[in-house]
Amino acid sequence: MSFNNTILLYFSPTATTRIILEEIAKGIGKDVSVTIDITSPEVRNQPPPEFGDALVLIGAPVYGGRLPKDAALYFKAVRASGSLAVLVVLYGNREFEDTLLELKDIAVEDGFSPLAAGAFIGEHSFTNDEYLIAKNRPDEKDRKKAFLFGEQIADLLNRNENPASLPHVDVPGNFPYKESMPSGSFQFIDVTPDCDGCSICLTVCPENAIDEADTWSTIDESCIYCCACIKACPQKARLMKDSPMKDKAKWLSENCARRKEPRTFLTRG
Ligand SMILES: Cc1cc2nc3c(=O)[nH]c(=O)nc-3n(C[C@H](O)[C@H](O)[C@H](O)COP(=O)(O)O)c2cc1C
Repeated sequence: MSFNNTILLYFSPTATTRIILEEIAKGIGKDVSVTIDITSPEVRNQPPPEFGDALVLIGAPVYGGRLPKDAALYFKAVRASGSLAVLVVLYGNREFEDTLLELKDIAVEDGFSPLAAGAFIGEHSFTNDEYLIAKNRPDEKDRKKAFLFGEQIADLLNRNENPASLPHVDVPGNFPYKESMPSGSFQFIDVTPDCDGCSICLTVCPENAIDEADTWSTIDESCIYCCACIKACPQKARLMKDSPMKDKAKWLSENCARRKEPRTFLTRG
C-alpha cells in the first residue's frame, strides 16, 4: 500500500464513531500511527494538522442530519496534500441525511482524495433506561461490517498504484444542506442529589459546558446535547431535563425502532 501513515481523526462524544473507525483501521491491516481525537476542546484549540503521505480515517456523528458544528469547523481548518481519506459518519438509526456529503465536500476542499465512505449506526446519544434507540450499537454485526469495509479499502489500495488519482467516492446527500440544528437554546441537563462531585463529567464534556467550580451547573449556551456527561456519570446523577430533546428521544424510540444497517461506498477503481 502506497502510504506511510494511517491516521484517525474524529469527534466522538459517546465513543461510537471512535469504535467504528478503529474497527475499519483493523480491517485495513496497517497500524494506526497517529490518533487525533478532537472531542477534547483542548485538542481543537491547537493548530490543525497538515497531512501529507497518509491515509486519514475521518469520523463524526450526525447531529440533525449535519456535522456537529465544532467538528465541521475543525475539519475545515485541516490541510492535506493529496492524502487519501476514508469518511465515516455515525447516526442513531434515524437518518444521516446530508452529513456524509458535507464531510466529503470539506475533505475535498482541504485537499484530500476521499476514496471510501460509510454511514454506520451507533446507539443514539439520547438513549436512556426509558427510551431505547439503537441500544448497544455498534454491535458485533456492525463491527464485522466495519472490519470487512476496512478489508475492501485495503484491497482497493493494493490494486491501484496511484490511488490518489482515482475518482472521489460518490456519497448520498443534498446541497444546499439541511439547516443546522441550533444548540444551547434551552436547559438540557438535570443533576440529582446522587452527584458526588467526582467531576468525570467535566473531563468528557467536548464544549467545556460544565462549570468547573460547580459541576451541578451546566452552561446552557455551550451545551450541544451530546449526552457524554450523562453516559459517563458513575452515579447516574445526570439526566435529560424535560425539554424538546427529551420529547425527541421519546419520538425516536417510538418511530425509529426498525433496525437500519450500515451503508458503505467505495470509489470506482
Ligand atoms: C444533538 C444530537 C443530534 C443528533 N441527530 C441525529 C440525527 O439527525 N439522526 C440520527 O440518526 N442520529 C442523530 N443523533 C445520534 C448520534 O448521531 C448517534 O448517537 C451517534 O452514534 C453518536 O456518535 P458518538 O458516539 O461518536 O458521539 C444525534 C445526537 C445528538 C446528540
